[in-house]
Amino acid sequence: PGRRVGFYKVRGEIGYGTFSRVKMAFHALTKDKVALKILDKTRLDFQAQRLLSREISSMESLQHPNVVRLYEVVETPSRLYLVLEYAGGGDLHNRICNDGKFSDNASKITFAQILSAIKYMHSINIIHRDLKAENVLFTSSGCVKVADFGFSTRVSNRSDALDTFCGSPPYAAPELFRDECYLGPPVDVWAMGVLLFFMVTGTMPFRAETMGKLRRCIIEGAYTIPPWVPGPCQRLIKGILKPVPAERYAIDQMMGCDWLLPTQTPQYPPSPPAPPSPALRRP
Ligand code: ADE
Repeated sequence: PGRRVGFYKVRGEIGYGTFSRVKMAFHALTKDKVALKILDKTRLDFQAQRLLSREISSMESLQHPNVVRLYEVVETPSRLYLVLEYAGGGDLHNRICNDGKFSDNASKITFAQILSAIKYMHSINIIHRDLKAENVLFTSSGCVKVADFGFSTRVSNRSDALDTFCGSPPYAAPELFRDECYLGPPVDVWAMGVLLFFMVTGTMPFRAETMGKLRRCIIEGAYTIPPWVPGPCQRLIKGILKPVPAERYAIDQMMGCDWLLPTQTPQYPPSPPAPPSPALRRP
């Protein structure tokens, strides 16, 4: 308590990653809450530095109501702090593990917002590559905020042949396990199919005791949708979880599916305005 980063007073830990911890903080004057992602610069190897600069560069260009906003980056001699929009309603993984599957209506409202975020990212050529329930956050009013751009890349990025295995195996698209070198936006679409299955059933479509078996399930597209899942939702899942990327639904096909079409997204309070530009600054 009492520690300050820029204008922010730092409070307790709310999460952690491989190279980072996340703490809650609030602006000393406006009292706005933020999430501070704290990175120890001395512990970042070359690869981690590359991923971090991608994360910052992707997040700086993203402004969407369903994407966690990067407000600013604060650097000290030993640390980097990413000042992020705060999402205090927990993540999709914990929600489902604690309270079970979502209702059909809650699934539609949540999925429509994830879809809106991903459509927007792809429209500016950013692929997330690590979509999973742990990275789908909620605000306290229930608005979806897609987080963690640590594996994201630009579609046209020549320094990244788009052949890098990123993300979490249970969400990985089949082409990630085959020796294909064009891994583009359909990788995010597949992960959205896994997310959708998880939301409506409370279980994962592809589960196995070993990596080898998981890989086989995913490549063969061997999953079973419980029969009680509504037909329109089953058809959407089947359209997304197609092993051949070219046959997989595109974002617009997902948006136009009959499961989602009657969905009205609720009105959520707007995010607090961000500072003029997320410039790198010293405290
Ligand atoms: N954990 C990781 N990122 C977060 C965020 N932006 N808000 C709340 N908790 C988080």
